Formats: sequence, structure tokens, C-alpha cells
Amino acid sequence: MAERILDLDPAADQEQRPALLTRHTTLIESAIRRSALPSRSHLGRMTAYHMGWVTPDGEPALADSGKRVRPALCLWACEALGEPPSCALPAAIAVELIHNFTLIHDDIQDGDEQRRHRPTVWSIWGSAQGINAGDGMLAMALRNLLAPGPGAERRMRAAHALSAAVVDVVEGQCMDIALEGSPGASQATYLKLATAKTGALLGASLAAGAILAGAGEDIVRNFDSAGRLLGLAFQIRDDWLGTWGDPEVTGKGRTGDLARRKLTYPVVAAYEVASPPRRRELRRLFSDKEPGGEFRLRALLEDLGGPALTAGVPLVLARDAVAMLDSCDLPAPALEDFAEVAIHVAERDR
Ligand code: IPE
Ligand code: IPE
Ligand code: MG
Ligand code: MG
Repeated sequence: MAERILDLDPAADQEQRPALLTRHTTLIESAIRRSALPSRSHLGRMTAYHMGWVTPDGEPALADSGKRVRPALCLWACEALGEPPSCALPAAIAVELIHNFTLIHDDIQDGDEQRRHRPTVWSIWGSAQGINAGDGMLAMALRNLLAPGPGAERRMRAAHALSAAVVDVVEGQCMDIALEGSPGASQATYLKLATAKTGALLGASLAAGAILAGAGEDIVRNFDSAGRLLGLAFQIRDDWLGTWGDPEVTGKGRTGDLARRKLTYPVVAAYEVASPPRRRELRRLFSDKEPGGEFRLRALLEDLGGPALTAGVPLVLARDAVAMLDSCDLPAPALEDFAEVAIHVAERDR
């Protein structure tokens, strides 16, 4: 199978990204690689493929591995609280493996064939093996984080926080599937869905970093809340990109959400402002999966101002996330780093 090697200049890409996301790239990448299973095993090959390290045949590759936002936030939390980032590395690796488990399963659930500029795991090996690949990554994450050794008590607390987030993510995914085809759901329902499926894990990334720094419960709770708000911003931007983004940049398609009649933020916002006849049209397009309906749906969302109603929301939530950390008495440069990432997340193109 032809392999698409990243044509981005990695140095240029690093320059455009906030310092918080690039500062510990080497630390994160080498630790994730150390956690990998041998790629001769079935599970090792599928997971290494998903991570961008090998071709489907197991040959070395240098493909898109994702943005590594969650492990970077985890290490940042620990450093912001005065401990070396390496203290949080076990949780940072676990959170990235957990995130990748959710992506592998999400692509099966959404029927998506492209991620990170490549065919998804299920589209190569089938859904049954995709389920195995995701399950294996979740177990690897917790196995590594809970290995016997120094700092076991803090790592257990971090594992508890991450496991609680996984329960939320799965509930969010259940809502996401159950609400396919329902454009008239309320903003509150959408916010609950997106906070669960995406906010919970960003919250746990910050909370786990704080736990491994030895923070008390109040700080951990604030970090978790800030991450949840940031995750909500992240998901609403993802919804925008999922319909109006450039697939060459995002590495994902832009008809999947429309084709599956997903309840995304642009849909909720457009439905709210639509006149009764337009609402009827939206409901009709959502209930009937007529061929080409996704293109009519995109045009209707545009007519109703869906892109503009969505575009500014992530920035508002990102600012709320920064404000949530105000009471934590963090050093000013650490807070500035976080604020820079929050804006980046709200305005990102991939
Ligand atoms: C994609 O997450 C799934 C969502 C939670 C929206 P990312 O955009 O962080 O995915 P990668 O890891 O960078 O590919
Ligand atoms: C994001 O799901 C949340 C999880 C993966 C758990 P989406 O389905 O909205 O994200 P993409 O667009 O496929 O990455
Ligand atoms: Mg998806
Ligand atoms: Mg999904």
C-alpha cells in the first residue's frame, strides 16, 4: 500500500505551534515509543500503524502521529505546579494511549475511513480487529501507569482519574450515537455530549499532571474543570473543521458528520435560529438519509449562518478555561503558556 509521508516541514510546523505543545516533544515521543508492543504481533502492528510508525505491512513509516495535545498538557500541569515534567510522564503517556484507543473505536463507530491522512485501522483490518486494537491500547495505558515501583500511590490516583474520564468518554460516545438524526436537541444536551466525549479526557490530562505533582484536591478539581472547558472548545472547533475544514490539513474527511447526521454545534446553533419551515427542512434532511443529502445539509447550514454562529464559540470557552486557573496561584509564564494553547486550540486548522 502506498504510504503518504508527511510533506509538512516538521521544523516549520513546530515554529507555528505554541511552546507548551513542542517543549517536551522528545520526552513524550521517546516514552511512547518505549511503551510500544513489538510490531510483529497482530496487536503491535495495528497499534504501531495507528500511531504512524509503520505501514500496514509492518515496515517503518514516518506518518502523522497526531498533535499530542493531551500529554503536553499533562506535563505542563506538573511543571506549572513546581515539579519536573518527568514526574508526570507515566500519566502523560497513559492519556495519549487512552486518547488513541478512543480514536480507533470512534472511527469504527462513525464509519470513518480516514484519520491522520491515512486509512483508519478498521478500514484495513476490519471492525472486529479494530475493536481489539483499541482495547489493547486502553489496557497498555493502565498497565504501564499502574506498574509496581516508586510513586505508586500518586500513579494510582492518576489512574483513577483517567479511568473515570474513560467512563465519561464512553457515555459521551453513547450520547453521540443516540443523538444521530436529531437536529432539534438543545444546546444543553449538546454541551453535555461534547463535555463527556472530549472534555473529560482533556480535564483528566491536566488533573493527572497535577496529581503526579502532589497537588491537593482543590487544585486538581480546578485543573480538571479548566481542561473540560478547553475540551469543549476543542470539540466545537473539531465540529467546524469536520464540515468546513481542509481535509489536506486535518487529515480527515469533511462529509462524515453530515452523512451520519451527527448532532454537531453548527447543527444545534443553526436549528435554534431557523424559521419553522427551515426547521422542518432540517428535520427532513436529518430523518431521511437520501443520497447527496449531506451536501444539501451543508448548504442549508451555511444559509442559516451555521459556520459564523460556531466560529467564535471556542475562543469564549478557551478564555473561560484560562480564567478557571486564575485562583490556582500559578507562575505568570505558566499561565501565559496555557493561554497561548487555549487560543491555538480554539483557532486551529488541524
Ligand atoms: C480528535 O482529537 C478527536 C477529538 C477529541 C475531537 P485530536 O484532534 O487531538 O487528534 P490527534 O491526536 O491530534 O490526531
Ligand atoms: C471525538 O469524536 C471524541 C472521541 C473520539 C472520543 P469525533 O467523532 O467528534 O472526532 P473526530 O472528528 O472523528 O476526530
Ligand atoms: Mg469521529
Ligand atoms: Mg465520533
